[in-house]
Amino acid sequence: MTNQDLLQVANEFGSPLYVYDAAKIAEQYQRLQAAFSKIKDVRIHYAVKALSNISILKFLNSLGSGMDTVSVQEVRLALKAGVAPEDIIYTPNGVSLEEIEEVVALGAQINIDNLSILEQFGARHPEVPVCIRINPHILAGGNSKISVGHVDSKFGISIHQMPLLIRIVENTGMNINGIHMHTGSDILDIEVFLRASEILFDAAKNFDNLEFLDFGSGFKVPYRENDIETDIEELGEKLTHRFKNFCKEYGRELTLIFEPGKFLVSEAGKFLTKVNVIKQTTSTVFAGVDTGFNHLIRPMFYGSHHDIKNISNPDGKFRFYSVVGYICETDTFANNRRIPEITEGDILAFSNAGAYSFSMASNFNSRYRPAEVLWHNGKAHLIRERESFEDLIRHQKIVDLEANPAHVEE
Ligand SMILES: Cc1ncc(COP(=O)(O)O)c(C=O)c1O
Repeated sequence: MTNQDLLQVANEFGSPLYVYDAAKIAEQYQRLQAAFSKIKDVRIHYAVKALSNISILKFLNSLGSGMDTVSVQEVRLALKAGVAPEDIIYTPNGVSLEEIEEVVALGAQINIDNLSILEQFGARHPEVPVCIRINPHILAGGNSKISVGHVDSKFGISIHQMPLLIRIVENTGMNINGIHMHTGSDILDIEVFLRASEILFDAAKNFDNLEFLDFGSGFKVPYRENDIETDIEELGEKLTHRFKNFCKEYGRELTLIFEPGKFLVSEAGKFLTKVNVIKQTTSTVFAGVDTGFNHLIRPMFYGSHHDIKNISNPDGKFRFYSVVGYICETDTFANNRRIPEITEGDILAFSNAGAYSFSMASNFNSRYRPAEVLWHNGKAHLIRERESFEDLIRHQKIVDLEANPAHVEE
């Protein structure tokens, strides 16, 4: 999408606005597929939590993608998008047995990540095939909030508990059809990922009826020019080799699964905001925009970087701005960032706004959540309307409480 396209979309649908470029999503999908093309059966299950708009799910499904879900509601969204139940994996953390049973009834593949629920589930449904999420205790992630494979993480069944796990499987007679790991987001070192994969292969040897191995995700995407990213092609080459050898040892061709979120949608998303006010103080020039961390929480939540372009004045003279939101708490998108000169009313485009951006938006400060647009074949499609006051109060019950006379001050 060009700056002109983005300006035209902002003009048509208003701001703040999330815009997703379908061509970029397809490009990333095909790049990942190509990196693992030498494996007979590779499946990509898009992590719905990254961006869960039904039109996005439909588009990814049309490319051939299955879905990775973490809640029964995400499973329902995937079904609503037309995804076949058998193409949906459900990898919850800390949910109730009842929710898992609800998902079984919907037909998705269950992935269990703790021994207590595994035992209860196995006792009640020994006939339902189950995938096991192991925790390899390898730290692959970047920020501690998105790193989930380490020793004190709440995710997965510790690899050290394998004897207990095997005993539960034997006692209940359940059928384990897959082994899964997800070490965390922002994998920088392929060797670390491969080391975790060895642990997955070792765990897999304990089960005879496997159909697939799920390596999770956590691929790092670039956030600025020349930024480091996971080398997907190198990973493809090395893991393919190792995976094929493992399948030979195991005696059967298994399916290899990935469940990327960021890799597929992060770079496809732009967040368009309008500058409400320029405020010059003795030390800083603030550009105050018509949004805040209620709509894009990543910078305040885990210090993520989003490039910011002034698409209304892309060739302007560079100046330094702190770009801040309108929420009545510290609400900083960027500190002293070099941006072409900003005038009130200009449209700023935030990059990497496809993943964990709209999906983490809230109504804090009683603001409406933004609209979403999918740009496909040179046309803008509105895929979510901007909220209204009616949306804000839809579930509120207004009760008439008479003041208790005993408490009324004279
Ligand atoms: C189990 C699981 N799979 C996949 C993902 C997607 O990760 P990413 O967006 O880094 O690709 C996550 C992210 O939290 C996850 O928890």
